[in-house]
Amino acid sequence: MPEFEDLLQAYQERVNQALKRVLPPKDNSRLLDAVHYSVLNGGKRLRSILVYLSSELGETDVVVADNAACAVEFIHCYSLIHDDLPAMDDDRLRRGKPTCHVKFDEATAILAGDALQPMAYELICSTDNLSDTTKIFMVNSLAKACSYKGMVEGQMKDMQLNKDIDIDELNLMHEQKTGRLIESSVELGGIIGGLNNDELSILKAFGKKVGLAFQIRDDIIDVESPSSESGKPQGSDAMKEKITYPSLVGIEESKIRSQLLVEEALAILTSLNLRTDKLRSLASYVVTRNH
Ligand code: IPE
Ligand code: IPE
Ligand code: MG
Ligand code: MG
Ligand code: MG
Repeated sequence: MPEFEDLLQAYQERVNQALKRVLPPKDNSRLLDAVHYSVLNGGKRLRSILVYLSSELGETDVVVADNAACAVEFIHCYSLIHDDLPAMDDDRLRRGKPTCHVKFDEATAILAGDALQPMAYELICSTDNLSDTTKIFMVNSLAKACSYKGMVEGQMKDMQLNKDIDIDELNLMHEQKTGRLIESSVELGGIIGGLNNDELSILKAFGKKVGLAFQIRDDIIDVESPSSESGKPQGSDAMKEKITYPSLVGIEESKIRSQLLVEEALAILTSLNLRTDKLRSLASYVVTRNH
């Protein structure tokens, strides 16, 4: 899909420019060096692109969309820094480069992640052209996605679940650790695009399906994609005996289920009477990507 690749690249460039603009300029702070390193080191930027594409279903201000997109990337980058730490996945490669704690040190990596979270909320709160009520909705959406019932509990389960779990528990873990932020990304886009509550609910249901499909594909990539392509250590999950989709249902079944989820997501979108073609292309990309 060459046209879609161009579209992806255009949005990636847009969010990369916005990130450079909103990050505090580097001073002599090691903390800020680590923040810059971990945010501006590539990445597909899919969550921020989901913010843009969802916001474009309605009408949105460019700066508002850029700030919301950056806020979501800040949260995502924090989650990756902490996910790679020795106490968690203990990975040394991220986006083809040394992970934050390898490049800097563990304490700096923990603190860089800690810094990025509130920076996301600050950015939303300091955005002009947004009412206070809208800011509260947005902060609340992101906070819930990251909370102890969201991403963090999902990450906790990732550390604790044993081989006896069933597919429902695995789905919940994946939805929490990865899906919730993806769901929130489309919700933020929808909020700033001025969508009504019914439309937002549809968009969130779409995001939930895409979020689960995204993590299943991530599990497949861990098995199948060489590090040169994924930018992450191949086989990391198996080495740590993680419970993943391929470990529980096998690689072929994982592919079938992730594809089915995207079909369900696309079916949900048909009930939105809006131009969703770009969002549809992105959802399909999520389960065909190799990195
Ligand atoms: C990786 O996310 C971590 C997961 C939640 C699965 P991405 O695959 O979106 O990572 P980047 O941002 O493109 O590096
Ligand atoms: C990461 O899941 C989820 C979060 C960062 C919240 P993974 O541990 O599978 O992500 P990768 O494979 O390291 O990118
Ligand atoms: Mg992990
Ligand atoms: Mg990991
Ligand atoms: Mg993974």
